[in-house]
Amino acid sequence: MIRKITESVSWVGKIDWELKKFHGSEYSTHKGSSYNSYLIRAGKTALLDTVWAPFAKEFVDNLEAEVGLRNLDFMVQSHAEVDHSGALPELMSRRPDLPIYCSANAVKSIRGQYHKDWDFRVVKTGESLDIGKGKSLVFVEAPMLHWPDSLFTYLQGEAVLFPNDAFGQHFATEALFNDLVNQDELWHECVKYYANILTPFSSLVAKKIKEVVGLGLPVEVIAPSHGVIWREDPLQIVNKYAEWAADYREDRVVLLYDSMWDGTRKLAEQIAHGISDASSSTEVRVHNVAKTDKNDVITDVFRSKAVLLGSPTINKGILNAMAGIVEQIKGLRFKGKKGAAFGCYGWSGESFRQLDEELRECGFEVVSEALGCLWEPGPEELAAAYEYGRAFAAKL
Ligand code: FEO
Repeated sequence: MIRKITESVSWVGKIDWELKKFHGSEYSTHKGSSYNSYLIRAGKTALLDTVWAPFAKEFVDNLEAEVGLRNLDFMVQSHAEVDHSGALPELMSRRPDLPIYCSANAVKSIRGQYHKDWDFRVVKTGESLDIGKGKSLVFVEAPMLHWPDSLFTYLQGEAVLFPNDAFGQHFATEALFNDLVNQDELWHECVKYYANILTPFSSLVAKKIKEVVGLGLPVEVIAPSHGVIWREDPLQIVNKYAEWAADYREDRVVLLYDSMWDGTRKLAEQIAHGISDASSSTEVRVHNVAKTDKNDVITDVFRSKAVLLGSPTINKGILNAMAGIVEQIKGLRFKGKKGAAFGCYGWSGESFRQLDEELRECGFEVVSEALGCLWEPGPEELAAAYEYGRAFAAKL
């Protein structure tokens, strides 16, 4: 279970191959995940983070067997979300005297979740802890990356950065290191993770990267709390985050719709043809959001320069799957994207107008008047939808 990372650092976490949903049902984890906990052994022995609660006993039993709980001098809790703090109650029941170094916000969160008053030692940016053998841990608070309590730890002497959730991926692998896994799978999980979790905090990501790079510290290894450890060119993920944080968009357009009797689907497909014919270099994606994994949809929104939303009218509004994805897009606060709305209707016809409004509320620049289609689209309406797509492409 203990796997050596550097001279002083070992991985002691848990690979969760079974995990298919994370954050309740908010995040699909097609490739499982891992809860990376690290043991840092110099003159003193520190544990950095724990694992999710279902694995608490297994995790603490392993630590007892392979390290000896009595040999732990302290722990660092980088972030109190339950996937990293879930084994604290089990650990602290067996080592109630163990000091826990964390941010002030983490104390509030840990107390709020576990209702215990353990030996918390609050740390702030710039504070360090001597761990012997010429090594120390330096702390950098990273609020909203992605919780108010998030804390980065840097191991001086071995140039290892522990950024907790930042730079992570939900990706179960025995390979442990970034250079040993399939790169397409790895980067797919990285961008999905950023798009679905970190997008709203992009301005803070950019600021924090500048701050950390500005410290001028060497970084040999980046060891996040989920997925692979970056040891080959570790700054590649930092550079990617800087790119993603800067209102990221590719030459890609995504159409999101739901449909009752296929009319809105036909409009979506014709608009897509029109965009593609007008701009052959543009990657056009079409998703029925009632049938597509919502996190894959969001990843495509993140990567796109424009988004079109379509729904027929029902009960003077939009279909429920569209309402769900719109709520998600709103919360993620994408910037620098264009959009338009469309949809079929039979009687009153509110849906495409509502989606037009929703796009504006989501911060999109609406570049085409919403396209409504009364009843089922016939040849004329389908041709109009195709032309609508061509005209939309010309505005991007
Ligand atoms: Fe991996 Fe925010 O917990």
